[in-house]
Amino acid sequence: MTLSLSIRTRDAMPIASEPSSPRIAMGWSPDSWRAFPIKQQPTYHNHEALAATERTLARYPSLTSPAEARALKRELGMVAEGNAFLLQGGDCAESFAEFSEKNLRNYARVMLQMTIALMYGAGCPVVKVGRIAGQFAKPRSDNTETIEGISLPSYRGDMINGQDFDHESREPDPERLSKVYFQSGATLNFLRSLFRGEFASLNTISRWNMDFVARSAQGKRFEAMVERINECMHFIAACGLSPSQEQQLSEATFYTSHEGLFLNYEQAFTRFCEQEERYYACSSHMLWIGDRTRDPNDAHVEFLRGVGNPIGCKLGPSMTRDDLLRLCDILNPNNEAGRLTFITRMGSHKVGELLPQHVRTIKEEGRHIVWSCDPMHGNTIKSPNGYKTRKFNDILSEVRQFFAIHKAEGTHAGGVHFEMTGQDVTECLGGAQAISELDLGSRYHTHCDPRLNASQSLELAFLIAEELRKHHGVSSR
Ligand code: PEP
Ligand code: CO
Repeated sequence: MTLSLSIRTRDAMPIASEPSSPRIAMGWSPDSWRAFPIKQQPTYHNHEALAATERTLARYPSLTSPAEARALKRELGMVAEGNAFLLQGGDCAESFAEFSEKNLRNYARVMLQMTIALMYGAGCPVVKVGRIAGQFAKPRSDNTETIEGISLPSYRGDMINGQDFDHESREPDPERLSKVYFQSGATLNFLRSLFRGEFASLNTISRWNMDFVARSAQGKRFEAMVERINECMHFIAACGLSPSQEQQLSEATFYTSHEGLFLNYEQAFTRFCEQEERYYACSSHMLWIGDRTRDPNDAHVEFLRGVGNPIGCKLGPSMTRDDLLRLCDILNPNNEAGRLTFITRMGSHKVGELLPQHVRTIKEEGRHIVWSCDPMHGNTIKSPNGYKTRKFNDILSEVRQFFAIHKAEGTHAGGVHFEMTGQDVTECLGGAQAISELDLGSRYHTHCDPRLNASQSLELAFLIAEELRKHHGVSSR
């Protein structure tokens, strides 16, 4: 990585001698967030051990480079302008236990299958961003969990503590940060190799989609669409553009993202890019701020305003017009297209009432924003038999309403954000597989929220593709 020449770590750069550059936001430094109120943080009892791990991580090679983050920002700029579509997806929470080549391969495969369906539907390039290679810290509704009169700290993701309900496991352990780093590095390396090779060629992906159509009952529904995609492929070949020879058609660019929740970890990977004279968060290409930590006066907004990456911000039912505009001012003061993505997660029953006003505000104020729909987090329910779950139809309904709202407002419905896995789990209800409440227990593996399984994810992508073609005024036949 040639970029190591142009970036310095905070280790080598004490605060007193911070470089001053007009590109560095006023009053910001990689650790300025520490002076702000902060929510959703664990309590470490051994502060020295945490600080020592942070120093070690700050010395390690970063996982991504400023140049890659800039490339993603450019691609998201195309999304903001209506010339590309964003697909962001992955586990609610990555875990140490589910880390395997098989799982990563299945994940990459379903992301690519969804991409091709969405590309066909949207008629434009699809920007692929994983919730992966760093998505290990979770916000929780309570600081503690109580079972049979015993209260312990809540599980906050494998980056922080363990899921088992005992004192030792729930104690935050800084060693987990190093484990996250190494797992993220290996994940990124493996995915990069898959996405650069034959695995990600259009030919291979079409073959998988034909398999899906042939083997599963729900796939049959999309037979006509898959046939059309294949016709397009034949046309490309007839033009003399062989997919295996054309880099554009045989390789897929893939980016990573996670919630920038545990800022000690994020600060450790903040690097100064000398070419641009600004800092980048180099644990990932894109970071987002969760719905519970997006207060404009708090630490998470402070940290993210100062890095040059593309950033996301969740937008839930409690968002106000004032906060929306303050977040734009703070996080995207130069109104750069591609810098800020609002990921809306209202829930299928509220989106129709709550989203249009925000879309209008942004349009009236002339802000360049990527609008993406997270139809997962506003649609979580508890099944009568006690599982946290989501209904496929609620998820689909929120996405459909999101498209309809943007169409009515004359704005671009830029993308979708899913919690999904390539595995055959039974965590969300419904879909053509008709997963029922009774099925939930059979393969419920998530470490946090319920995910769409491979088949549900692909089905959703095909249904969205149909929807997109309707909005473009193109019939799907
Ligand atoms: C998440 O994306 O996993 C999450 C917790 O979302 P939100 O901040 O929207 O609740
Ligand atoms: Co979640």
